Amino acid sequence: MNKSLSLMKNCHAAKSRDCKSNTTTREIIQVSCPMEDKGYSIEIWSEKHPKYQDFLECLKKVVPDQLPFVEGDFYRNVPTCLYVATFEQIVIGFLRIAIQPIGPEANCPPLTYKGKILSEAKIHAFAVREEYRNQGVGRALQEKAISLAKEKGCHQLSSYSPYQCVANHQVKLGLGFAAQPETHTEADKQVKGVYFIMPLI
Ligand SMILES: CC(C)(COP(=O)(O)OP(=O)(O)OC[C@H]1O[C@@H](n2cnc3c(N)ncnc32)[C@H](O)[C@@H]1OP(=O)(O)O)[C@@H](O)C(=O)NCCC(=O)NCCS
Repeated sequence: MNKSLSLMKNCHAAKSRDCKSNTTTREIIQVSCPMEDKGYSIEIWSEKHPKYQDFLECLKKVVPDQLPFVEGDFYRNVPTCLYVATFEQIVIGFLRIAIQPIGPEANCPPLTYKGKILSEAKIHAFAVREEYRNQGVGRALQEKAISLAKEKGCHQLSSYSPYQCVANHQVKLGLGFAAQPETHTEADKQVKGVYFIMPLI
């Protein structure tokens, strides 16, 4: 089916599916990103982009729990890159990664291989507006992250997802991410999630 036609149809026939997520940053990596030939576009936006506020509004509306990862301190001191998907001037989805050494986020020393500190691209914000889901936008955003992480010489692409984010899991597993389920305690409650990692070498 024609992608742009499909996207428009779904604007009027929104289907609800799943949940929320998490993430943050400041410095922006500049790389070129051509327009998609699919009726929507995916571009890299810096915080100086004239429509950056539209991204923040989409983030706050669709996945408010991810706001601290974008506006808080988590990834403030590492390079980040924001991909924004737009259709007819509307922000319909986004994905943000941070490039960081492997280890410190888990309170461990940086992991090294043959004397070199290994880096990872960590996805910390990822969502598509409900009415534009299940048309491949999420997968296309993830593919951009994979390409950039490879371009930047990262050892792996990683993310963490709450266990109930089934659609996110489908996207990740379909792209070949490995999955490590985990349970931890937060405020005396057991919380289940999945670490997703894609090796890039
Ligand atoms: C995760 C998310 C970004 C995916 O965006 P999207 O544009 O719909 O992604 P795609 O269209 O590329 O792929 C969606 C896949 O999930 C599958 N899917 C969707 N809902 C599902 C459900 N309830 N159960 C099983 N599979 C489901 C679709 O069939 C599709 O898989 P397929 O391509 O193999 O058929 C979107 O669902 C979203 O924003 N969710 C809420 C926020 C979120 O969970 N963010 C992730 C961090 S936890």
